[in-house]
Amino acid sequence: MTKSRIAAVDVGNDSIKAIFGEFDNELNIPNIVARDTEDRPVIGIEELDTKDPLDGIHIRVHSPALKENNAIYRVGNLATKSDNATELDPGSSKSEEDQTLIMLFATLALDAVNEDNAKLFPKSKNVIDANYTLGTGLPLREVKEGKDAGYRSKLVGSVHQVEFLVTPKYQGLKVNIKFDEVKVYPEGFAAYINLVMDNSLKIINKDLIDRRILIQDIGGLSTDIAVIKNRNVDDDKAQGFNLGVSEALEQIREEIRSKHGVELDSRTDVVEIITRKNDRNHIMVKGSRTSVHDITDRILLELAKKQYRLLRNVWAKNSQTEICYFVGGGATVLKEYIKTLNNNLDGYNIEFFEDEKESIWMMANAYYKLIMDYVKKSEKSSKAASEPVKS
Ligand SMILES: Nc1ncnc2c1ncn2[C@@H]1O[C@H](COP(=O)(O)OP(=O)(O)OP(=O)(O)O)[C@@H](O)[C@H]1O
Ligand SMILES: [Mg+2]
Repeated sequence: MTKSRIAAVDVGNDSIKAIFGEFDNELNIPNIVARDTEDRPVIGIEELDTKDPLDGIHIRVHSPALKENNAIYRVGNLATKSDNATELDPGSSKSEEDQTLIMLFATLALDAVNEDNAKLFPKSKNVIDANYTLGTGLPLREVKEGKDAGYRSKLVGSVHQVEFLVTPKYQGLKVNIKFDEVKVYPEGFAAYINLVMDNSLKIINKDLIDRRILIQDIGGLSTDIAVIKNRNVDDDKAQGFNLGVSEALEQIREEIRSKHGVELDSRTDVVEIITRKNDRNHIMVKGSRTSVHDITDRILLELAKKQYRLLRNVWAKNSQTEICYFVGGGATVLKEYIKTLNNNLDGYNIEFFEDEKESIWMMANAYYKLIMDYVKKSEKSSKAASEPVKS
């Protein structure tokens, strides 16, 4: 039997974040897929060898877990350019969408075919047999509805195959994914674990562990507020809202286009413009440095106000809350606006993460800690079981 590789995967509505093995590989892929046919046109013969595989994920996915088996997809950056691309709809259930599984399988397959991991899994001809121990999560709402059990059994029960079609470097490779174990954690709880515990689940934040905390996770399409009490997520109090930052970023892009005639490639470009250290909120227009501060300020302030209103409502219902942490990519974008609002208005005890990566990778880090801990504990107990009892 081959050794199982650890994978901690956060399937965010905006992007997938994944951590592998001994933290030796990380992947971040936009959560976007588009149905396709077998032969996507390749521009230029060399493209397949020289391009980054992550910019050309083109796969067929075979799995009994899917509603639509054996379909072909463009995934991530490559799908962005398709006109039939789909992103997850905020009202939908992550656990029941094929898109969640397509993204998950594609991410694992990309880790399995990575040259650095060639020794990990057996490979015969063009087929790699990859075994994973997976830690992942679902929104609290879906866990509350009991959907985690169904999601887990879809994954563990069978072999899932990803076949790379017209993908640079990996064309023609097939990966058979098998799960030795799958743990599905509720998202809000995971964020709490990451705040109070280190990689070996030792408590690093004694101060925080018994406090009443809110965690406001501002994502691409949604915002979740977890309520933590008695070291646990208060299921009944947690709330999810269909409000993220993607829409505001898109609006900024649109206004820059109509006002300045400048076409930005993606929302990522917008994020870059509003968060970079030097020359923030400026773009080049026909070679002249031009401020877009008026546009970004107005749109982001509007969104910050909405986010602040959500905080107020949840805080009002949980009046004994001691601190609220803002996490997620949206927290990075809105940090200064929310802080200013808070200073001028209610003055809640709120906290942000300095390091934007920490904020965005919060869930993936938490799943990593939790699944590592699980593996260590089960290794220990199986070792104990196989050792003779000393008398
Ligand atoms: N380095 C960054 N700095 C600032 N903002 C970022 C950065 N990376 C991503 N973002 C933006 O933050 C937003 C939310 O990203 P995040 O990764 O938290 O969402 P998600 O977890 O995928 O989505 P959801 O939580 O809705 O499922 C995205 O719209 C993204 O453009
Ligand atoms: Mg998220």
